[in-house]
Amino acid sequence: MSNALDLGQYTKAEIEKYEAVYGRNFISPGGLATAQAFTALLQLQAGMRVLDVGCGMGGSAFYMAQQYGVYVHGIDLSSNMIAYAQERCCEANLTGCVSFEYGDILTFKPSQPYDCVYSRDVFLHIHDKALLLHVLKTCLKPGGRLLFSDYACGDGPKSPAFAAYIHQRNYDLHTVSDYRRLLDVAGFVKVVAEDRTAQFIQILEHELRNMPSDRFDAATLAGLRHSWQDKIDRACQGEQRWGLFQASVP
Ligand SMILES: C[S@@+](CC[C@H](N)C(=O)[O-])C[C@H]1O[C@@H](n2cnc3c(N)ncnc32)[C@H](O)[C@@H]1O
Repeated sequence: MSNALDLGQYTKAEIEKYEAVYGRNFISPGGLATAQAFTALLQLQAGMRVLDVGCGMGGSAFYMAQQYGVYVHGIDLSSNMIAYAQERCCEANLTGCVSFEYGDILTFKPSQPYDCVYSRDVFLHIHDKALLLHVLKTCLKPGGRLLFSDYACGDGPKSPAFAAYIHQRNYDLHTVSDYRRLLDVAGFVKVVAEDRTAQFIQILEHELRNMPSDRFDAATLAGLRHSWQDKIDRACQGEQRWGLFQASVP
């Protein structure tokens, strides 16, 4: 089953290109190192059930299962991502504790509630944030925790170049304080909304310095470098931002 994501931003060729920059099994800033730092905030304990929303190729799911002994279910709306995730899950012998499903989180109905919902740089694709947060709430046990990172925007007007970038990718970006309000309105408690743009810039600069030039032809490498530099410039100007959000259900 293919959709606009499979045919556009997440073709197999694009996934492999971005994986070469982010690191094996990751399509998000900082790859494994960021997943290690963010999952450490969840106080995971063996046997817990975690839902990874927009799990991509499964890097975070594999890490959480291996490091913490939790059961992870990943859902993703790209069948290309899910195909990689299932293949890599078998290779890593993790099929007993990690499972994947192709689907849209907006229509997901959990068979049992989860202790944690985790998501990395996915919600930028989802325009109905109120419905999204309502669904995530229904996925969690009482007291369950939500943690996600996401691209965000600044308060000011967007430059034509940034507006074109958002439009071309069909993103829906919010400010960090908008996200805090959305989480409050959705009924989450203990909401923490952090602007992590400085960390984002450091990660991007590291990735730009370490682009694996031997993996790409000259035009692809130049395109990637250009796109990373653009993100760094927009983040330094404050119009593109990165947020880390934590919240619980009552
Ligand atoms: C930037 S990638 C991040 C992948 C993964 N979280 C990671 O850290 O490597 C965004 C992912 O969100 C998925 N996605 C977008 N909209 C979705 C939706 N409505 N439901 C589930 N997944 C979605 C995409 O298919 C893609 O795999």
